[in-house]
Amino acid sequence: MDQARDWLRNAESIVALTGAGISAESGIPTFRGDGGLWRNFRAEDLATPEAFSRDPALVWEWYNWRRELIAKAKPNPGHRVLVDLERAKRDFTLVTQNVDGLHEAAGNYRILKLHGDIWRLRCTSCNAEWPDRRVPLPKLPPKCQCGGMARPGVVWFGEALPPGILEEAAHAVENSQVLLVVGTSAVVYPAANLIPYAKRAGAKVIEVNPTETPMSEVADISLRGPAGEILPRL
Ligand code: OAD
Repeated sequence: MDQARDWLRNAESIVALTGAGISAESGIPTFRGDGGLWRNFRAEDLATPEAFSRDPALVWEWYNWRRELIAKAKPNPGHRVLVDLERAKRDFTLVTQNVDGLHEAAGNYRILKLHGDIWRLRCTSCNAEWPDRRVPLPKLPPKCQCGGMARPGVVWFGEALPPGILEEAAHAVENSQVLLVVGTSAVVYPAANLIPYAKRAGAKVIEVNPTETPMSEVADISLRGPAGEILPRL
């Protein structure tokens, strides 16, 4: 813990990579592990482009339900520490796999959302994208002004990340002295690649997670515990 604290204190340039675990203490279920969404639902039925073309109403019902859960959630002390870091450091980039918007709600500005944003919709015909925070959505599936069907503004399995975003994240990681990896199972690619990439580029890697992950052996330090408790102690 002391070593990790020193690295963070002395670093001018830090990247944080977050996953669903950082929002767990805000009451939002993670995907894997006990109580995880993928324990009760099949990703193939709900989070792929094929699932959406097969049954858009079903996919939308699931996203509408998740939007309702997330709408009730508030940022927790783990999120707030990342806001303090952004304010304290010359160079801080937050790279998140989360679509819940809690990092913005906490007050972070420089956020790279690798997997999109559940509060944005995108037209499947004209590709227009817009924010929509209504909970519940009045009509499913929602429509675009052009009459086309809207989809959630998130990245599904088998889809590419938003253009340029991985390059931007990789660039931030290359220039960082510390990569702080919080609350991710580190099994979804390409996001997980940022961890060994940081290591090769010479950054110290600090992992915060109650359980071991495939990337724990890549990390210089693994701090075991919930983000809402560990991050404030750092
Ligand atoms: P996962 O659900 O795969 O992993 C959550 C991680 O958070 C696990 O390693 C837990 O041990 C850890 N965790 C649980 N509670 C925690 C706490 N209080 N503090 C810190 N860590 C905690 O979530 P992600 O790694 O984000 O993708 O999953 C990656 C991607 O897979 C998601 O973005 C989503 C999902 O399918 C898409 O939808 C494209």
